[in-house]
Amino acid sequence: MSAKETKLHGDVYYPSDEIVAQANLPDWGKAATAALKDLPSFWEQEAQNLEWFKPWEKVLDDSNKPFFKWFTGAQVNIVHNCIDRHLKTSPKNKLALIWESEDGQLHKTYSFFAMNREVSRMANIIKSMGVRKGDRVTIYMGRVPEIMFAMLACAKVGAIHSVVFGGFSVDALRDRIQDSESKLVITCDGGYQNGKLIELKRICDDAVEQSPSVENVLVVQRTDHGVAMNETRDHWYHELLETPVAKDRCETEVMDAEDPLFILYTSGSTGKPKAILHTHGGYMVGTYTTLKYVFDLKDEDRWWCAADPGWITGHSYIVYGPLLNGATSFMYEGGPTHPNPGRWWQLIERYGITVLYTAPTAIRGLMRFGEDWPNQYDLSSLRLLGSVGEPINPEAWKWYYDVIGQKKCPIMDTWWQTETGAFMITPTPVVPLKPGSGTRPFLGQEAEIVDEDGHPVEDNQEGYLLLKNPWPSMLRTIYGDPDRYVDQYWSRFPGKYMTGDSARRDEDGYYWIIGRVDDVIKVSGHRLGTAEIESALVSHPMVAEAAAIGLPHEIKGHGIHCFVILNEGNAPSPDLAEELRQHVAQHLGPIVRPEEVSFIDKLPKTRSGKIMRRVLKARALGEPEGDLSTLES
Ligand code: WTA
Repeated sequence: MSAKETKLHGDVYYPSDEIVAQANLPDWGKAATAALKDLPSFWEQEAQNLEWFKPWEKVLDDSNKPFFKWFTGAQVNIVHNCIDRHLKTSPKNKLALIWESEDGQLHKTYSFFAMNREVSRMANIIKSMGVRKGDRVTIYMGRVPEIMFAMLACAKVGAIHSVVFGGFSVDALRDRIQDSESKLVITCDGGYQNGKLIELKRICDDAVEQSPSVENVLVVQRTDHGVAMNETRDHWYHELLETPVAKDRCETEVMDAEDPLFILYTSGSTGKPKAILHTHGGYMVGTYTTLKYVFDLKDEDRWWCAADPGWITGHSYIVYGPLLNGATSFMYEGGPTHPNPGRWWQLIERYGITVLYTAPTAIRGLMRFGEDWPNQYDLSSLRLLGSVGEPINPEAWKWYYDVIGQKKCPIMDTWWQTETGAFMITPTPVVPLKPGSGTRPFLGQEAEIVDEDGHPVEDNQEGYLLLKNPWPSMLRTIYGDPDRYVDQYWSRFPGKYMTGDSARRDEDGYYWIIGRVDDVIKVSGHRLGTAEIESALVSHPMVAEAAAIGLPHEIKGHGIHCFVILNEGNAPSPDLAEELRQHVAQHLGPIVRPEEVSFIDKLPKTRSGKIMRRVLKARALGEPEGDLSTLES
């Protein structure tokens, strides 16, 4: 049955004949049925499109659930498939990366051939600093090409990269360096965002001084605004490039498929951020396959994932996925409204971007400046659009579709997580769309929505979103804390992966994500944890206790609202509230700045002392407070 013959309920957008005719996967239904019938075969076929040093003995090893393994016995390196393999064929001369600086003054391009040279040079440099297989390297940089070289250089030599988003500040960076026991930190002297200079090196210095594991800091020059260099510890990248160490060729390390590729810290239900671990083999197959089918990548595409490499979206769909597919990617250094709200649309015209993948918060932020900005530019090169990070409200969806996509570009609303590594609930271009729904699970996946007791709920009822099947790019563990991995994802509903989201499924089998059910706040698509915010507040000498919650925000999706109990002898005041907002921003980063800090005498807690954030939220929104039987009196 063709997509158009299927009768669906509600506001439905069917794909055009043109989109269907060129799809990499023309019959979604048939492919989905086949994949579910034989999961390992489906993924095996995809894996066969990539090059392995040694083939696998087993596609899926589920003998020690939930510690699933994929492609066991195989040897591979993701960088071999991102770069080396393309040097033997025509992509060698194709552009891998196009980059423009925020001020529009710098333009850089790298072919796959050039990419190999740059990555090899950086790999040789970090090797000369003693970085070896299994070592951890923290990367704290702006959106410059060198962040890609740094990640790939680590992977090439078998080191585990841990990228920390450049919008985080000292405390967040320090905790992540310390937890990973990184030996090397790669940073920039500074970065540019929204016309402002970000003091990356200075923040890095403060963090590294408190991190004894760090032996060297490699500094990429971007701003040249004069930073202090520690003579023994810090090294300028551009100076090392001039030395004989920085050879143009470097052997790609042979890795086991299950060897770690990277860790990426993300916020969970409680406590400190956790290091999500991904591996060379499975993550490679997952990102390659999802990008190929969901965004229908073609040789002539110019793909722009407007995320930051510091989050999973950037890892999977700026760095690894596009290179694995031999695609041309565009990376833009700056923010969407600098120097004016036409900047993104200018870039689409200038570079002939064919696919734009961004977050609802960016769409909402640009939408408020009106149609005149995009209408000044030729956006006709666009073929497909994408959305990620939070539910997209139908109003933003329609603006994106009508004004940016000019009613001809389907929007791929991709639901996934740091933990899933790749898209999990997502349409492909042939799937009819409903604004605000991620449609259905990707090939090989099945989802379930259950109540508190794990029983499936009826259509259109809200419940916990679970994933039923293992997939190659699934997280393997929480680095250094396997018990927490089991506890967090697999214990509440045994045998199923708990996403931490609530959702509903409609009568057509379409999934609608509602939001997080844990202590994660999605602010402008960034995933932040209440625990880190609260501990930053409590580090202020006047604060005794603190609670953070997310409340709806027109542009950001959610904004952070904090409730604070002061130590004896301190009086609440608007000035102090402002000081505390600054305090959080200074310690964790400007993206974490609370919208509001309120003073309170008592926090609602359970008898075991857990803060009941949902009660604070209900009170703030003037909603019913729900079941209060566990509230301490
Ligand atoms: C949310 C980002 C609705 C969700 C890739 C998830 C979404 C969390 C969508 C993971 C979407 C992501 N629609 N919600 N299309 N995509 N989310 O780890 O709550 O930063 O659990 O990964 O973002 O955030 P993370």
